[in-house]
Formats: sequence, structure tokens, C-alpha cells
Amino acid sequence: MATGTPPRSAPARVHAPSPVCPHAPRRLATGRGDRWWLRPLGTALFLGGLTAYALWAAVQASHYAVGHYVSPLYSPCVAADCGPHTTVALIGRWWRWSPALAVVAVPVGVRATCYYYRTLYYRSFWLSPPACAVAEPHRRAGGESRFPLVLQNVHRYFWAASVLVAMMLTADTVEAFRFAGGIGVGLGTGIILVNTAAFWAYLLSCHACRHLVGGGLRALAAHPWRRWSWRAVSRLNAHHGLCALISLPLVMVTDLYVRLDAAGVITDPHLVFGH
Ligand code: FES
Repeated sequence: MATGTPPRSAPARVHAPSPVCPHAPRRLATGRGDRWWLRPLGTALFLGGLTAYALWAAVQASHYAVGHYVSPLYSPCVAADCGPHTTVALIGRWWRWSPALAVVAVPVGVRATCYYYRTLYYRSFWLSPPACAVAEPHRRAGGESRFPLVLQNVHRYFWAASVLVAMMLTADTVEAFRFAGGIGVGLGTGIILVNTAAFWAYLLSCHACRHLVGGGLRALAAHPWRRWSWRAVSRLNAHHGLCALISLPLVMVTDLYVRLDAAGVITDPHLVFGH
């Protein structure tokens, strides 16, 4: 029979108190021994890089279209000075800035207020919280019930406007099947098509879309079509994060392809089937 002192469990790690508030843990203090900072850092680099590219491309006002291909950053082209690439001339020739700036507020707005992207940028840029079991650097959290974050509630309106944008993007995608010799298909057609499909998947998997389709009813069973739609959107909704993650870089990839083709750096391989 074993005798002696019973083994003692390892002492719990205690955070050093903050010099500002004696009850608050030190900023970014954690007992985690893994590289928890890799994820927020990687996310910040990923989102920051894509945003920097999008800003650069949006102010260029050149090489955004070639043949019947139009960059998604400039689509729908609602400024009259887009020439043959104008989708709907909602803005006259008095617009002196890049055509991308006339429409960019809608896709930027829907992504900036998206529940999924909020999680990403709250964690990676605002460090609130930076990771599980890591103390955040802010002493007070205002939350989304107060100004300015209460403005995130406009998400559903950005979503509705984005559906209109997606419809016009779809019209531009159909145009991408037109070539000088007739109807055809090119590598650019495929890239534009995948980008538009990804944007639709992103929008249709949105929580606001799910609520719009199946919310506000006492009994969903009494509305078979809405129940079917709600189930379809719910299945998609489970992958909303993936849709968000894929659809954003695809916009930049599509813009880059059109830009390089328009600048003559690459030549779009395509097949034309005739009129
Ligand atoms: Fe992400 Fe609506 S929650 S688009």
C-alpha cells in the first residue's frame, strides 16, 4: 500500500493583474501555450491584402473591361462613361471619378456588415477578442447595441441592394459568352461565371436571406414553397463562412484576369461557335 504525501495537482496559471484595473487580466494575457496569434494575424493579412488590391484596382479607371468581359469591381457599370460596358446609365457624364466608386459601396457594405466578416475583423483588427481564452486589450466593450456598431443592423438593406447588383452582374456574365465572331466560351467566361455563382451562393446563404424566406410565419408547414426554400437556404447557410471566404478572393482573381487581358499581358483562350 502506498504511503506518504498524496501527489499535488499542477498549480493553476494566474494572470498578472493589470496595472490599470486590479481585477482585469493583463492585455492579451492567456494560459494558452499554442500559437493562437497565427490565426488573427493570417486573417488580418488576408483581408488587408485583398482590401489593398481592391482599392488600388477600383481607382485605376482603366483596363477594367476587354471585349465583353467586365471586371466585377466595375460591374454593374452604372456610369455613362463606361461606354459600351455601361450596364444601366444611372449616373451621367458629370461623374468624374472611377466608375467602380459609383457602385462599390454596395458590395463593400454587405461584406463589412456581414456576420461572418464581423467575426473575422473584430478578432483580427480590433482584437475583440483575438482568440479563445485570450484577454482582449479593451477595458470596455461597447457591443453592437450602441453607436457606432449598432449601424451593423443595416446589413439586411445592403443585402437587398446586393441582390440587385448580383442580378446585373449576372447580365454581364451572360455578355461574357459573346465574342466578336458570335457566341463562344473562353477562360475568362469561366472565371467570370464562377465568380458570379460564388457571389450568389454568398448572398443566398446569408442569415438575412434565411429570415426573409422562412421568418415571420406562425407555421412554416402551411407554406410549402417557403418551407422548401427555407430548407434549401438553411442548407446553404451552414456553409456561409466558406461562401464568404471563397467569393471575396474570386472578385480579385477575376479583376486581375480581365486587367491582364485588357493590358495585353495575357491572351484569353476561347472557342467561338458562331452566330
Ligand atoms: Fe453574411 Fe448576410 S450574414 S452576407
